[in-house]
Formats: sequence, C-alpha cells, structure tokens
Amino acid sequence: MDRKKSHIDLAAAQQSSQSTFDSIQLQHCALPTINFTDIDLSTSFLGFQLAAPIMISSMTGGTRESIAINRNLAEASRECGIAMGVGSQRISLEGVSDEGLQRELRKWIGSAPLFGNVGLANLIKWRQPNCLNQLAESIQADAMIIHLNPMQEIFQDHGDTDWSGSLDCLAACIAKCDIPVIVKEVGMGITPSVAKLCQQAGAAAIDIAGSGGTSFIDIEGALAQDPRRQHAAQVFREWGHTTAELLRHRDYQSINLPIIASGGIRHGLDIAKALALGANLTGIAGLILNSARVSTTECINTIEQLKFELQIACWGTGCQRPSELKKVHLS
Ligand SMILES: Cc1cc2nc3c(=O)[nH]c(=O)nc-3n(C[C@H](O)[C@H](O)[C@H](O)COP(=O)(O)O)c2cc1C
Repeated sequence: MDRKKSHIDLAAAQQSSQSTFDSIQLQHCALPTINFTDIDLSTSFLGFQLAAPIMISSMTGGTRESIAINRNLAEASRECGIAMGVGSQRISLEGVSDEGLQRELRKWIGSAPLFGNVGLANLIKWRQPNCLNQLAESIQADAMIIHLNPMQEIFQDHGDTDWSGSLDCLAACIAKCDIPVIVKEVGMGITPSVAKLCQQAGAAAIDIAGSGGTSFIDIEGALAQDPRRQHAAQVFREWGHTTAELLRHRDYQSINLPIIASGGIRHGLDIAKALALGANLTGIAGLILNSARVSTTECINTIEQLKFELQIACWGTGCQRPSELKKVHLS
C-alpha cells in the first residue's frame, strides 16, 4: 500500500514537455463550413455513450488518499460524461483492503462507464480465470481492464517476473468474463504484434498506453532498494514506444479492434492528433492526477479544458465531429 502512495507522489511530480505528438501537424482549414457551437464531441465506445472521446486512465486503489482521488475522478467523470478506469483491484481480491475501490464508486460516477482493473501478472499467479467477474461485481464495473506491465515488475524489488503461460492465462480469463475486457500497458506501449495476440485472446479493445508521459521505470527505479535496479532504471529510462509512434505504425491498421490512445497526452491538441491517427478514444492519467488530489471541481476544469481544446482542433480543421479528424491530412 505504501508503494501505491509513492506511485501517486512520484507520478504527480513527473512532467512531460516534449512529445512525438509535436512532430505531427493537423492540416489547417482556412474555410470551415460549420458553426463552432455545432461541434459535437459525443462518441460511442464499446456501446457506451460518452460526451467526449476521453477517459480517465486507471490510477489509484489501495491507499487512503485513493478514496478522495477516486471520488473526485468519479464525480468529474459523471459531470463531464466520460469513462473512468480504476487502479489495480489486486488488494481487494487478496482480501487485504478495498480502500478507494468500494461500492460507493458507482454512486459517485452515476451512469458513466466504470472500468475495473487488474494486472495480468496477478492473474497468472492467482490461477482463477473466473475472478474478473468477481472484481467487476465488487465495484459494478461495465468493463474490465487487464494491464500488462512486465517492465514495471522487473524494476520492482519483489516484482512478478514469472510470466510463463501468460498468453493462455489472458485468453482463459477473457473467455470467462461476462463483460468486455480491454487490454492495456502502463506507459511503455502495446505494439501491433502484441495487440494482435490480445485480439486473438479475445480482447474487446486495446489501450496503447505508450511512453512519453508517466514513466514507471523512473518511479520503480526511485523506489528500488536494490542498487542494481536503481542503476538499470537509468539505463532503461527511454524504454518503450510512444503513443504517437505506435498509432502511426502501419500494422496497427490491421487490428480490427477499438483503440484507446493513452500515454503522454498533454492537452486537447494531442487528443485531436491521436484521433486523427486512428484512435477511437483517448486516455489521461498523469495529466489529471494533480487535479484529482485537489477536488472534483479541479478535475472538471481539467476535462472541460481538454474538451475546449479538442473543439478548437475540430474548428481549425473544419470538422464538426472528432471522428472526421481521421480524414484530416497530417504532416
Ligand atoms: C499514480 C498512478 C497509478 C497507476 N496505477 C495503475 C494501475 O493500477 N493499473 C493500470 O493499469 N495502470 C496504472 N497506471 C498507469 C496509467 O493508467 C497510464 O497507463 C500511464 O500512467 C500512462 O498514461 P499518462 O502518461 O497519461 O500518465 C497508473 C498511473 C499513475 C500515474
């Protein structure tokens, strides 16, 4: 639980200034034929209706501060009409605590989509393919997220590094789950070849969760007691693939699944570029963490700012809906 608290503190202090999104330009339209006030950000994702193509990526669970953070995020999701993923539910299944992940979440988030979360590393250890339904039920989740984090685990002093049988485990757990399962990384990216394997294993959507934002190699390196890990974390600082780089990969075109672009999203223009590159939804974690530590209102302000910036990107490209951004020329 202390580790989760340290993750929040260290992630909140991280900042991303430069990004591969900067190398992409949306083509300016000097002659829009729409009314700015008619720009409609509403989106459907996996059958869920959202007011904008934005979700709050999985973050907290398991610390006392998480209760307040999750409440702020859930209430803001409800007010702004977007989806929210919770942080890992590992400890609630292990029966240690459910702090931050109680049933009240459903009350706070109302009818907005709520996604549960657990690591594949835990599923491999537990050998209970049916547990996704149990985790979903405990918070009344609409979908489950399984996160893949091998490079985070190797930098943890006692991380789970036996991933033998991981693909079979993934497929077995998804097969037993009664609701859609999204597979994500935690900030190093899901390459097209891994996305394909996840698709074959039954994933309903892929969340790229690429590099360029929160870095769990930095975070775990800072927490590691083992000097070898501390040193190696410096060596592997730049590991992973950025979200923009993966979205641009031509092999992603053959993945016939909804794609969430997350990892290193800094503002509404990054969101617009991710959608133009083919994403169906975008996710933010580090970007909203500091607001989530303050209040629901701060979270709402952050999300509304993103929506406004996305509307401006639509205006500047002459698009009435974000889905039209896919047709906008990129350079
Ligand atoms: C404090 C913190 C805790 C996180 N915990 C989880 C987690 O429990 N499960 C998970 O799938 N991802 C977790 N993540 C990873 C995020 O969901 C996201 O994939 C990653 O931070 C990259 O997005 P960003 O660059 O917008 O922060 C966490 C991120 C942060 C900042």
